[in-house]
Amino acid sequence: MEKEPMKDRLTVIVLAAGKGTRMKSPLPKVLHPVAGRPMIEKVVLAAKGAGAVDIRLVVGHGAQLVKKVTENWKISCYEQKEQLGTAHAVRSAQPEGLDGDIVIMNGDHPLIEADDIKNFVREFREAKLDLAVVTAVLKNPGQFGRVVRHRDELKAIVEAKDASAETLKIREVNTGIYVVKAALLSKILPDIKNNNSKGEYYLTDLIALALEQRFRVNALKAPKRVSIGVNTQEELARATGFVYLRKAKRLMEDGVVILDPRRTYIEDTVKIGQGSVIYPGAFIRGNSRIGSFSVVEPNAFISESEIGDSVQIRAGSYLEQARVHMKCTIGPYARLRPGTEIHDDAHIGNFVELKNVNFGRKSKAGHLTYLGDADIGEEVNVGCGTITCNYAADRKKYRTKIGNRVFVGSDSQFVAPVEVGDDAVIGSGSTITKNVPAKALAVARAKQFVKENYAPKAPETAVDADSTVEKAKD
Ligand code: UD1
Ligand code: MG
Repeated sequence: MEKEPMKDRLTVIVLAAGKGTRMKSPLPKVLHPVAGRPMIEKVVLAAKGAGAVDIRLVVGHGAQLVKKVTENWKISCYEQKEQLGTAHAVRSAQPEGLDGDIVIMNGDHPLIEADDIKNFVREFREAKLDLAVVTAVLKNPGQFGRVVRHRDELKAIVEAKDASAETLKIREVNTGIYVVKAALLSKILPDIKNNNSKGEYYLTDLIALALEQRFRVNALKAPKRVSIGVNTQEELARATGFVYLRKAKRLMEDGVVILDPRRTYIEDTVKIGQGSVIYPGAFIRGNSRIGSFSVVEPNAFISESEIGDSVQIRAGSYLEQARVHMKCTIGPYARLRPGTEIHDDAHIGNFVELKNVNFGRKSKAGHLTYLGDADIGEEVNVGCGTITCNYAADRKKYRTKIGNRVFVGSDSQFVAPVEVGDDAVIGSGSTITKNVPAKALAVARAKQFVKENYAPKAPETAVDADSTVEKAKD
C-alpha cells in the first residue's frame, strides 16, 4: 500500500479524562451507553470513518476501565494523571512528534459522525488554514465558550465563566472541536498559561495565541447537533433518543416501515430489508440482520440475531444470537437463546424456550415448551408442554435428537441423551429415557387404572341449617 503523503496524515486526539461529575454515576462518563454502545465508541468510530491513522484517547478518571473497554480498538490511550484543563489534556497526548493535521475533540460528543469530521478537515485544507475552531450558533449558548469576533474576524474564545455580560450575549459557541496543523500545535501548546478563573490550561487560548503569531486561523460552522455534549443523565437520554431516531429515519429512507419512529430502538449496526415492518417498542441490537417483508411486533427484543425474509417475530419475543430462516413465525412471548437455528417455515409459539437447538423446516412447537441442546428434524410436531431434560445429575448437558416427521404428544419429556427415529410417535405424557426407532410408537407413562363406582355415597339427608348453628355454639 502506498504511504499516505505526510500532509494528508490525520491524527485525532479525543479528550476523555474528565470526571463527569454531573452524571452522578460511578461509571466513567464516556463509557455510558448511547443507543447501546459506549459513547466513546461513537466518537472513535467517527474518527476512524474520517480516515484518522492515529487515534489518541486522553484518559484520566476511570482510566483503567476505559483502557479495558477500548483495548481492541486499535487506538492508543494516554493517561492524564491530573485534570489541569483541556490544553493540559492535549499535552498528555504527546503531540510533539506528530506530522500532518490533527483534529482535537471531546469524548462526550457522541452525535458526531465521520462525515462531519471529513467536512471540517476538507474545509480546513481547502482554506489552507493553520488552525480552525468548529463553532455552532445556539439559541441558548449556556456554559459554552463564546466566539468573540471583531468586524466579523475571529479574535478569541472566551469561556463563559470568564466572560463579561456583553460577551455572554454572543450565541456563536465553541463546539470543542479543532483542526490544527501538527507543527502549530507543538509550537503554541507550551505557551498556554493557566491565568483564568478556574486556574486551568485552556485549549481555547490557542486561538488568540495563534492569531497573535499571525497564523491563518478561522472558524468552521457546524450543525447544532455537533455541539451536543453529554454532561447529565438527561442529556444522555436526549442523545440516545437522537441516535435511535436518526437510525429509524435512515431505515425509513431505505424502505423499512416504522410505525412510530420515536418509539423504536434500533442500533446503528443493525440492517433491515425493504418492506419489513417494525412496531413500537422493538429493541434491535448489535449486528442483527432482518430480511425483507418481515414483521417485528411490539416489545420484541432482538440481539445479535439473523432473521430471514417474511418472518414474523410476534410481540414480546426475546432473541439472542439466534438464526431464523424465512417464513417462520416466532412467539408471541417466545425465547430463542444462543445457538438456536430455526429453518424455513417453522413455527415457534407462545412461552416456548429454545437453547442451542437446530429446529427443522416446517416443524412446530406451538406452546409452553423447553427445548435445549436438541436437533429437531423437519415437519416435526412438538406438542404442548414438551421438555428436553438436557441437564443431568452429573451436571453435564446432553443432546436430544428427534428425526423427521415425528409426532410428539403433549406433556412429554426426553431425558437426554436420547434419540427418536423418523416418523415415530410419542404418546402424550411420556417420559422418554430410551431411544425410539423409526416409525415406532413409544408410550412411557403409567397405565390408566379405572375403578368403577369409586365415589363415596351421597349423605342420606341434607344438612339441617339449624342443627349446624347449634353445633357451632357447643
Ligand atoms: C470546553 C471548552 C469550551 C467549549 C466546550 C464544548 C475549554 C477551556 N473550554 O469547555 O470553550 O464550548 O468545551 O463542550 O476547552 N478534559 C480532559 N482533561 C482535563 C479537562 C477536560 O480530558 O483536564 C476533557 C473532558 O473529559 C471533556 C473535554 O475535555 O471531554 C472538555 O472538558 P470540559 O471540562 O467539559 O470543558 P467545558 O467546560 O465543557
Ligand atoms: Mg463539557
